[in-house]
Amino acid sequence: MTHMSEDELTAEVLDRLAGTPDPRLREVMQSLVRHLHSFAREVRLTDEEWLAGIRFLTETGQKCDDVRQETILLSDTLGLSSLVDLINHTGAEPGLTEPTILGPFYVPGSPWREHGASMVEYDDGGEPAILTGRVLDVDGAPVAGAVLDVWQNASTGFYAVQQPDVQPPGNLRGRYRTDAEGRYEIRTVRPVPYPIPDDGPVGRLLEDTGRHPWRAAHVHAIVTADGHVPVVTHVFDRSSAYLHSDAVFGVKGSLVRDFVPDADGVLVCRHDIVLDRAAGSPVSLG
Ligand code: BEZ
Ligand code: FE
Repeated sequence: MTHMSEDELTAEVLDRLAGTPDPRLREVMQSLVRHLHSFAREVRLTDEEWLAGIRFLTETGQKCDDVRQETILLSDTLGLSSLVDLINHTGAEPGLTEPTILGPFYVPGSPWREHGASMVEYDDGGEPAILTGRVLDVDGAPVAGAVLDVWQNASTGFYAVQQPDVQPPGNLRGRYRTDAEGRYEIRTVRPVPYPIPDDGPVGRLLEDTGRHPWRAAHVHAIVTADGHVPVVTHVFDRSSAYLHSDAVFGVKGSLVRDFVPDADGVLVCRHDIVLDRAAGSPVSLG
């Protein structure tokens, strides 16, 4: 075999992938190789840097366990998770509640709770707050019986799943159903900004690149209803720090809300959620 130039090597790899039977896998793999090779050429990647990258990715995988997903954290902090979300969920009907990344702290099977019930199972001195609003369809009609599967961090900054020896497993998690007018009401505490797990390789990379690990204060929700497209979303506190520098690029302006004291001094956050109609569902006639 004669000496290969950089471009000839890239062409040879692409050629070997050309026989991939699945056309989508072929497209993805050939594009990945083109971009990886261009990247290495552009930065003139050294042997040491290549090895450091391999070690970093290995460590990232090794850091993963049942409750820690360091590889997704890497994708999140590089903006890839939010980019995939934008690619797949923009261009939908205007006015729909925008989706955001799921994050690593979602645990299925949260306790069912009554309308207006509290999801605080452990008092850590957090500021009491009420999260309320309606679930509506694209025509503004209320969606009765929609389910909001909600989770947030405690005022110490941790989710229950991160502190199994401190917080009860159901703390600050709950599934709520909307009433006949599409209303939901959740008693909780005001969410606080918190750092994403930064004691692993991703945290080191943030530090080495002069970035902070903080997320703006938010509550997560997955909202589902028969005949509608589910949405994985957040609501953000407008007064939170880090709205403009969220470590995982998850903030969308349409999801930022005020927490305003009511007559009793309890903070209320009002947030309506608008769901798209699922393909094939009957159009509401009002
Ligand atoms: C979260 O909001 O729970 C989250 C999202 C991405 C990375 C870490 C945490
Ligand atoms: Fe979160």
